[in-house]
Amino acid sequence: MIKGELIFEGNEKQVFATDNPDQVIFRYKDVTVAYNNVKRARFIGKGALDNQISAILLNYLNENGVETHYVSTLGEKEQLCRKIEIIPLQVVVHNRIAGSLAARLGVEEGYRHPNTIVDLRYNNDELEDPFINRDHAVALGLATYQELDGMYNIARKVNDLLKPLFHKAGIELVDMKIEFGRASDTGSIIISDEISPDTCRLWDEATGERLDKDRFRLDLSRVVESYRTVLDRLKKVIN
Ligand code: TYD
Repeated sequence: MIKGELIFEGNEKQVFATDNPDQVIFRYKDVTVAYNNVKRARFIGKGALDNQISAILLNYLNENGVETHYVSTLGEKEQLCRKIEIIPLQVVVHNRIAGSLAARLGVEEGYRHPNTIVDLRYNNDELEDPFINRDHAVALGLATYQELDGMYNIARKVNDLLKPLFHKAGIELVDMKIEFGRASDTGSIIISDEISPDTCRLWDEATGERLDKDRFRLDLSRVVESYRTVLDRLKKVIN
């Protein structure tokens, strides 16, 4: 496999072509951004941790019947992924109220609800990722109703698989954001972005301590150390 040209540069990752038209290389950067790119910082070692955590989670999903873009790990910060056509939607799953959802619903952060809440957002920086519903997504031509049903079902399945996995690691999966794409080889809709402490809220079950990007958002310090805790604990439960 030969690494080709840079085809995408985001805030937190780069994507390179390969000599296989259906595969790309994801490179995780040490940069982190929040609040629609308003807040930005660099944490040495974070890219490598996101790469490893995401590899464990995506591989676990692949092995449990949920297709993701993850193929294999290539190096400290790089993984080989299936090439996809981006679907600019974010499916956000909430198991407990946190972040902006608390203000939106007028309840305390940490409120436990009995059901799983699934939100849909239009992935559009200019519009600041607005909340939309299925009708808006179809109106914009982003997906069909059938595809949206599929994405919601996959998101719930991912939650049903990852919640107990994190629980084994003494971590509560509070919420997470999932993105999808159409695989260039088969056309099927697969998970197409990282799943990591950058895209989930993860609370230590014993102490309630935040082990995710909120440490950066809320200036809580020990960002990299917390991501390392997540990786170390996941490694123990996976092996
Ligand atoms: P969400 O409730 O959509 O927004 P907020 O971060 O304002 O509370 O976020 C739920 C989870 O999804 C949280 O863990 C952060 C993650 N997320 C992303 O990773 N990227 C995004 O662009 C958005 C909107 C959320």
